Amino acid sequence: MNDILDTGIKNAKNVDRYIFGPDSLKEISSLVQKRIQHQNDFCVFFIDQFFQGNAEIIDQVKLDCKNNTIFIETSDEPTTGYIDDLCKKVKSFSTKLPAVIIGMGGGITLDVAKAVANLLTNEGCAADYQGWDLVKNPSVFKIGIPTLSGTGAEATRTCVLTNKENGLKLGMNSDFSVFDQIILDPNLTKTVPRDQYFFTGMDAYIHSFEALNGAYRNPVGDAFSKISIEYAKDVFQSEQMQSEENRSKLMVASYMGGAAIATTYVGLVHPFSAGLSVVFGLHHCVSNCMTMRAMEEFYPDEYNDFWSMAKIQDIKVPRLHGDILENDPDDRTYEKLYNSTIIHEKPLTNALGSDFKKILTTEKVCEMFKMI
Ligand SMILES: [Fe+2]
Repeated sequence: MNDILDTGIKNAKNVDRYIFGPDSLKEISSLVQKRIQHQNDFCVFFIDQFFQGNAEIIDQVKLDCKNNTIFIETSDEPTTGYIDDLCKKVKSFSTKLPAVIIGMGGGITLDVAKAVANLLTNEGCAADYQGWDLVKNPSVFKIGIPTLSGTGAEATRTCVLTNKENGLKLGMNSDFSVFDQIILDPNLTKTVPRDQYFFTGMDAYIHSFEALNGAYRNPVGDAFSKISIEYAKDVFQSEQMQSEENRSKLMVASYMGGAAIATTYVGLVHPFSAGLSVVFGLHHCVSNCMTMRAMEEFYPDEYNDFWSMAKIQDIKVPRLHGDILENDPDDRTYEKLYNSTIIHEKPLTNALGSDFKKILTTEKVCEMFKMI
């Protein structure tokens, strides 16, 4: 274990308010109404395209004010270009800014809502704000409603975006990215497909153990991480991972994991997972789980726990060689994988110290991707 390092995060920001509980979605109307002061005030409702045509869910979101609904594409992870386009679209609705932005869906939709809310009050384009503390002005008031548990997007101070031009996968890390209000309603995760429930839920487990095994620490963040790990293990070691009790527990684990990561950094899993996402377009949560194949050397206990939970739940984690690719990647692809992994300096320093490149040589990184 390295010496404890200072995260530089002196004054941690969490979500201002949250409502928790089955059926809490019905509070949305009164929460939005509180922000509507003038006749032409309006809100924008971003919802995961997964719910397009799902009247049962959409009808539950009763908004009495003027509102515009935009279905968010979730087949690919959001790009900076997509955020720029959405921002233009929202600006075309009115000469005024929306009074409220609502994001309802998985991590992608929540991140899109955060990024657009930031960009509406800050000049330029989304790529200008990828990094740490670059957002200058507070965003439009934003409400997050997760319909999947695990990424912690409802609690974090980032919104992950891929810049297709330079291959950079990096969020707008800013206090202004934190939601003003979230609604945690476990009824919303009832119909999540089993595989997706497992892969996404594991994000909370993974980034919490990365934080606890890292050198950048925060005692409050450590406590959040410990609870997140405990709850995620309770859920995934039980027979009915999607029982009502377990859906509630995983929603709390996700929120706690997100709050933990807002005070520190991830470790080795996320940079490798980002490499898979950037090079092969694989989704974040499934990439994390695939990356776990290469983690025995670095996180032996968690490696064993993870694979035992996948076995208990009978979840098949795809293999890069076989399920995703027919042939072995060529040298150029390995070079891209190396570059898009090693770029994540803070998490890699968190996991291995500032000399991480001495451990993660090109050969070592390729060897690890071969295990995935
Ligand atoms: Fe994650």
